[in-house]
Order: sequence, then structure tokens, then C-alpha cells
Amino acid sequence: MAAIRPMRLSDLKGVQEIEESSFPRPWSLNAFITQLAKDSSICLVAVDESRIVGYLIATQYVEVWHILDLAVHEDYRRKYVATDLIEELLEQSGREKHRGYTLEVRKSNRGAIKMYESFGFICTGIRKGYYRDNGEDALIMWRDSEDMLA
Ligand SMILES: CC(C)(COP(=O)(O)OP(=O)(O)OC[C@H]1O[C@@H](n2cnc3c(N)ncnc32)[C@H](O)[C@@H]1OP(=O)(O)O)[C@@H](O)C(=O)NCCC(=O)NCCS
Repeated sequence: MAAIRPMRLSDLKGVQEIEESSFPRPWSLNAFITQLAKDSSICLVAVDESRIVGYLIATQYVEVWHILDLAVHEDYRRKYVATDLIEELLEQSGREKHRGYTLEVRKSNRGAIKMYESFGFICTGIRKGYYRDNGEDALIMWRDSEDMLA
């Protein structure tokens, strides 16, 4: 089982390998470094022994947490690694008042959409042609903070 901990600069090689095999337009190294340097971001990795097997990056603006990047190594999918990463994000971000969480996901990414829905995310809109590689639409998903759900 993978353990969840804060991301470090030394994790970025493993993170980028997963990023590059998971997305048609992967983030640059600089994009990761920028998020790691921000006080307003939560950057997590899932580690199995010393191997990076997944990661999540979220940042807060205007009282909303934006999940910017989330991926799990192909060999580790369907083992609840992403679930553990999201649970840790909810735990850490829930310590301070905020309005909720949002993200964009490809309309065709049924697995990810199902996973987000299992956490109470709902689709609140569509960004037409959002993904530049194939012009695919993005679903905008939203989940209220625990305060709002209570
Ligand atoms: C989407 C992704 C992060 C899910 O990670 P994961 O660790 O495999 O997800 P989990 O094991 O925590 O899945 C939890 C639940 O979500 C749903 N789910 C996740 N992946 C699924 C898939 N491929 N097909 C159908 N349902 C899926 C299931 O309900 C699953 O529970 P179950 O296995 O008991 O049925 C992973 O597939 C991935 O890295 N994909 C490529 C990158 C990506 O699409 N990132 C999201 C961008 S918004």
C-alpha cells in the first residue's frame, strides 16, 4: 500500500515520468517547481517503498481549492491511490475555512469523473474545446467544503 506525504523537489523525476505517460500535454518541470514553491498549494505524493506511484497538486485562490493535477502510475491504478491522495487533500485543506473544490476533467475521462463523483463532486458546467491537443470539452466539477456540506 502506498503512503501519502508532501511532495519534495527530489520527487520530481518520478512525478514527471508519470505525468508524461498520463497526459498528452504534460506539465513542464517549471510548472511543478512553481506549485511546490507556493504557500497556497498542497502538493502530495503517494510512495510505495521509495517509488513515486502517484501525485496530486491543488492550489487555493479566492477561497476555492483548485485540483490542478492528479495522476497515478499505470501499474498502481484501481488500488485506491488517487482516493488516498484526495482524502489527504480534503483533510489538509479542511483545516481552514474555504468554499469548496473545483477541477476540470476531460468529458471522455469516465473513470476520473466516476472517482470525483464518489467524493461528492458534481458537474457544474462545460468549457467548450478546452483541451488544445484534440479540442475536447472539459467538464467543470465542484464540491462544497465540509463546512458547507454540514
Ligand atoms: C484517474 C486516476 C487518477 C484514478 O486513479 P486510481 O488510483 O486508479 O483511482 P482509485 O483506485 O482511487 O479509484 C477509485 C474509484 O474511482 C473509479 N475509477 C477510477 N478509475 C476508473 C476507471 N479507469 N474506470 C472506471 N472507474 C474508475 C472507481 O469507482 C474506483 O473504485 P473501484 O475500483 O472500487 O471501482 C488514474 O486513472 C490516472 O492517473 N489516470 C490518468 C491521469 C488522469 O486522468 N488524471 C485525472 C485528470 S482530471
